[in-house]
Amino acid sequence: MEEWWDESFKEQIDQNAYNTAPVEALVRFTSHFLRARYENPEQIKQLKFLEIGCGAGANLIWLAEKGIQPNGIDISQKALGLCKYHFQKNQLEHRLGDLKHCSATSLPFEKDSFDGVLESCVFQHLNEIDRKKAFQETVRVLKPGGVFIGHMLSQNHTTYQLNKGSIKETDPGTLVLKSEEAKNKINLESIGLSHFFSKDEYTGLLDGCSLIDPCETTYELPLEEAARRGYKNYCQAMWIVYAIK
Ligand SMILES: C[S@@+](CC[C@H](N)C(=O)[O-])C[C@H]1O[C@@H](n2cnc3c(N)ncnc32)[C@H](O)[C@@H]1O
Repeated sequence: MEEWWDESFKEQIDQNAYNTAPVEALVRFTSHFLRARYENPEQIKQLKFLEIGCGAGANLIWLAEKGIQPNGIDISQKALGLCKYHFQKNQLEHRLGDLKHCSATSLPFEKDSFDGVLESCVFQHLNEIDRKKAFQETVRVLKPGGVFIGHMLSQNHTTYQLNKGSIKETDPGTLVLKSEEAKNKINLESIGLSHFFSKDEYTGLLDGCSLIDPCETTYELPLEEAARRGYKNYCQAMWIVYAIK
């Protein structure tokens, strides 16, 4: 998968089409967490967060602007290069903690290292074994009382609803999607393996967290965009998972 993501970022750079905006779900839930937990803005400046699969770094830059120390890992060197470039461009390089090239399945950090761990659209592309490891690693590196905010595919997503009967699932909720048409498009079919989570499975995956609260968001894509992806209608259904260790 490392090669696939490098190639994807190369394409995104060539087309100037990589994500430069922080993910709304992460911004919203992190903001709620900070407001509920910290009265004094000075306390926020002591916090260390990690983003797993940080991509071009839009979420990390948002954290840096809030005063939180951002740390990131990604399996793609191309993504990490882009992330560094954005920190330089925004003159926030001095705020950046660690930026490491590794997999979500084996994080090079001590246990209880971070006040928060963020993840968006990463764990959903891991196979069953790696997915379990990635969640275990998340809980391991969180400090007791720390927050995990994740954003991942739900089984109510159109892609799962339309394909679940015709494609054999490699484990419950996982489809390996293929489409010649989808080549070079940044969508689920071009990535291949996608896991669509059920609400109940987070309890097992986030073993060690005292509070686990998945909230579903749905967004109906404009018809033109649905058609571009080869669908008549396309409902993007995602879980926003909020958990406290
Ligand atoms: C869909 S992008 C999301 C990027 C970013 N989280 C965002 O919200 O803009 C998925 C990211 O996960 C990274 N990734 C994929 N598999 C990974 C793995 N096993 N370990 C770490 N990062 C991974 C990819 O390189 C890519 O940057």
